[in-house]
Parts: sequence; C-alpha cells; structure tokens
Amino acid sequence: MNSTIQKLLNDQIKYEASASMQYLSMASWADANGYNGVAEFFYNQSEEERLHMTKLVKFVNERSGQVIIPQLDKPKDDFKTLNELFETFLTSEIFVTEQINKIIYECLQKQDYNVHNFMQWYVTEQLEEEAVARTLLDKLTIIGNDKSGHYLFDRDINTIANSQSNEI
Ligand code: FEO
Repeated sequence: MNSTIQKLLNDQIKYEASASMQYLSMASWADANGYNGVAEFFYNQSEEERLHMTKLVKFVNERSGQVIIPQLDKPKDDFKTLNELFETFLTSEIFVTEQINKIIYECLQKQDYNVHNFMQWYVTEQLEEEAVARTLLDKLTIIGNDKSGHYLFDRDINTIANSQSNEI
C-alpha cells in the first residue's frame, strides 16, 4: 500500500474513533440532563462510528498495511444546550467528510482504485449522516428556547434512534 494512503487511512481510523468517543460523551451528557431520546440517538451514533473505525482497521490489515491504533484526545463534555450538542455533531460530520474527500483525492492521484472503491461506502454514509445532522439542527433552531419544544424533540428523536438500533 502506498505510504501516503496508508497514513491517511490511519488518520481516518483516529477520526472515526474520536467521533465515537465524542458521541459517547454527548450521549452521556444527554442522559444526565434528562434527554433520554437524544441520549439513545448518540449512544447509537457512537456505536456506528466505532464500526466505521473497525471497518478501516480490517481493510488496512487485509491489504497487508500497518495499522496504528491511535491515542485520542479527551472529547468535549461541557455542553450548555441541545443546540450546542447538535452543532458539535454537524461540525464533526463535516470534518469527517472533508477528511474522506482527501483520501479519495489521494487515491486518484496514486491510482489506487481498490482503496478508492472501498472509500465509496464512507462517501455515501457521510452524505446520510450530514443530512441527519443538518435536519436535526434545523429543527432545534426553529424550536429555539421553548422547553416544551425540547421535550417533543427528545420524544421524536426516539424514532430515529430506534431505526438506528435496527441498522447496527
Ligand atoms: Fe464515520 Fe460519521 O463519521
């Protein structure tokens, strides 16, 4: 495997792992603050990111590359509002998409169509995750500071969380 691509894939392993821990931290915050639906949503999201990470680890090993399991920074845990929680979610997903695009670009430069093909799964996944993050943040922007609106948001997000559980 090309060394630049291997380095980018290892970086991606770290980003997916970091996202998993970040979403776990967000799930825990929501759990502690009485938002059970939001908590379930982020517990599931955290599991998904862990799967994204593991998929990369297995792929690099299959290609006889060298995997480096990374050390992670402490995730953010001092949220003030639901809005801040979902802004962090969207920012994180946009960052991951940008990194995936970098890998795709490098694959084309180095003509590694095998990794390019593998990464298409992540491209599709990111499209979905960014769309979900934007939709939820839009809803929260409409709700504003309305407490009963937050209550209904937390109740309704359960539907999304349950469909996620079925996918994992
Ligand atoms: Fe696997 Fe949502 O980044």
